[in-house]
Amino acid sequence: MTTMPISQLFDLKGKGAIVTGAGMGIGQGIAFRLAEAGASVLVVDINPEAAAETVRQIQAKDGIAFAVQADAASVADAERVAQEAVTKFGRLDILVNNAGIFPFSPALQTTEALWDKVLDVNLKGVFFYTQAAAKRMVAAGQGGRIVNIASIDALHPTGNLVHYDASKGAVVMATKALALEFGQYGITVNAIAPGAINTPGASAGTAGVEISEEVLKSFLVRIPLGRQGVPDDIAKAALFLASEASAYITGSLLVVDGGYLLS
Ligand SMILES: NC(=O)c1ccc[n+]([C@@H]2O[C@H](COP(=O)([O-])OP(=O)(O)OC[C@H]3O[C@@H](n4cnc5c(N)ncnc54)[C@H](O)[C@@H]3O)[C@@H](O)[C@H]2O)c1
Repeated sequence: MTTMPISQLFDLKGKGAIVTGAGMGIGQGIAFRLAEAGASVLVVDINPEAAAETVRQIQAKDGIAFAVQADAASVADAERVAQEAVTKFGRLDILVNNAGIFPFSPALQTTEALWDKVLDVNLKGVFFYTQAAAKRMVAAGQGGRIVNIASIDALHPTGNLVHYDASKGAVVMATKALALEFGQYGITVNAIAPGAINTPGASAGTAGVEISEEVLKSFLVRIPLGRQGVPDDIAKAALFLASEASAYITGSLLVVDGGYLLS
């Protein structure tokens, strides 16, 4: 086996990638790094204006990107998006399942509709986007990289987020189960557990439910590295897991939290 030079390890030129929820926040940061490394990126978001803005910023730096409006919770959209990547780029090598929602809701007030919405976006979507992408990767016979954005909540609960914490715990186990099945095809499946990352969703909350100052402060005092994370902290980890540098890593959970879980 020849050793690949460092200059090639993170080179994604000619690769086709999909990033869900890439219109802002962590997904946008991941799309920026994958494009900078040379990948052609399908920027998927339910919000078409946000997706278009990410694409504009990538193209402004001579990167290759296209926006697609799609719902991470839709099985039909998963097929459409995976096919679009193959049609546009000729190949699909990387899928980053990033789209996720985290509406705070006390357990006693959580409705069936909210439970289903969170589980559909955060868990069902991860599985069916992976299935749609992996079908194409297996058919092409060139392996692939799946990166799932979980959360430290998969390992340590946050109050009023039972639905979210359960969805992210399940994403970690789904990552391992998929890695077990897909190793034979040269497809690695890994997850990242971000800590407190400064994103539009984290500061404003999703589904109209605000994240309180107290919750944010309770996170910040527990971070040994002394700062809230930024999307690029997660993007660099995603780039690693999407690249040749992580060729022998599969079924892993990479915690990127500034040390939060240590305290
Ligand atoms: N921000 C954090 O502190 C943090 C911590 C741990 C894990 N995460 C995870 O990271 C991921 C991204 O979080 P973020 O903070 O960047 O979120 P964000 O709310 O800032 O951005 C999410 C993006 O996803 C899009 N989106 C939402 N629902 C969608 C759907 N159904 N289909 C397609 N696109 C959809 C939104 O339009 C938005 O552009 C999520 O999976 C989240 O659970 C975030």
